[in-house]
Amino acid sequence: MKREKEETNIKNSSLITNHSSLLIKGGRVIDPSSDLDEVTDILIENGKVVKIGKTQELKSKNLNVIEAKGMIVVPGLIDMHVHLREPGYEYKETIKTGTEAAISGGFTSVCCMPNTNPVNDNRTVTEFILDKARAEGSAHVYPIGAISKGLKGEEISEMADLAEAGCVAFSDDGRPVMNSEIMRRAMEYAGALGIPVISHCEDINLSRGGVMNEGFVSTELGLQGITRVAEEIAVARDLLLAELTGVKIHIAHVSTAGSVRLIKEAKERGIKVTAETCPHYFLLTEEFIRGYDTDTKVNPPLRTAEDVKAIREGLKDGTLDVIATDHAPHAIADKMVEFDYAPFGIAGLETALSASLSLVEEGVLTLKELIEKMAVNPSKILKLEKGILKKGADGDITIIDINKEVIVDPARFKSKCKNTPFKGLKLKGIPLFTILKGIPKGMH
Ligand code: DOR
Repeated sequence: MKREKEETNIKNSSLITNHSSLLIKGGRVIDPSSDLDEVTDILIENGKVVKIGKTQELKSKNLNVIEAKGMIVVPGLIDMHVHLREPGYEYKETIKTGTEAAISGGFTSVCCMPNTNPVNDNRTVTEFILDKARAEGSAHVYPIGAISKGLKGEEISEMADLAEAGCVAFSDDGRPVMNSEIMRRAMEYAGALGIPVISHCEDINLSRGGVMNEGFVSTELGLQGITRVAEEIAVARDLLLAELTGVKIHIAHVSTAGSVRLIKEAKERGIKVTAETCPHYFLLTEEFIRGYDTDTKVNPPLRTAEDVKAIREGLKDGTLDVIATDHAPHAIADKMVEFDYAPFGIAGLETALSASLSLVEEGVLTLKELIEKMAVNPSKILKLEKGILKKGADGDITIIDINKEVIVDPARFKSKCKNTPFKGLKLKGIPLFTILKGIPKGMH
């Protein structure tokens, strides 16, 4: 993404390293949780919001001021689905580089999936991640623990221990839990702990060997397809298990029209389900794979124009509660192979906001709805007590310039991963400041 140095509209910016006060002046403040949409000021002291309303700029050495006229000021964005790769795959990403990418993309909090090495299926790994995040992280990090030991889908992990150590959800993301009995028991345990289960929906017997969506294009390209039903069967099963157990399920990375329909019907029937999708599923189709560019290889795969339409409708009508990135970094060398052999996954943190703002531009979502899906709802689902801008809340804030156009340039990514299907595309809107507990961390 093009990161031109902005003309600085922050006074004292280089001095902001501690918890001095921060006044954000004259921005359009949107806080969906309190229905606030108003041009006003926000004062943050000692990391907390102390006032929302017109504020006199008192002469004080310790007061830093951001002139936010013409900017959008929202609760810090939360990405509930990222892969930080540490421990074990530090050549792809680390907690340090992944959280720097988060800040660069406007995210103040990220939730990291457990498919690390070792897998985050025990408290030692959770504690390692939290310690590392405290020492080297730029954004807040919330670990997600594994549903099953070693992500093997055979034996449930030490869920109570993981929860106590700080995991905010359970998931085997990257792989499904194929055994329905294990999934049922996992949901019951997680339900008793009050912690949501995030399901990677994929029937691997149907998807095995596939590298892209199954259909006309996969036939033309000579690539093995993954039927949409591989996802939808798993979604249907998990909805039935949510009904059976009465336990909440969150469906990860929804990519098909059928999944949207199933989730919508389940919600109408009162089943406790929430769901997310990612920017690549509402902006791109399988047509992008025609050049065999491995930066278009994701799991679930890019689908068809009808799916994109259904995903957008699902976002609009509330079937899809969350926009997450599924930031799944790989090393450049990993991806510089034939399409068949490349791993699934792309960088997402540094393009998600700009890409998602196109939904506002096109009238699919209002700005308020977008912020609900990128901050408020993830916080509610995972009980993070963030995503709000009221007196007493954490001073985690994202300031957005919705008019600035950028050409996506992976060379400028903070992430180690440079693989993005959005490269070279012109997008509109960037996070101008990402503020963590009152401290501006990222300034574009
Ligand atoms: O594309 C993906 N990459 N999808 C997943 O579910 C896992 C992820 C990864 O870990 O690389």
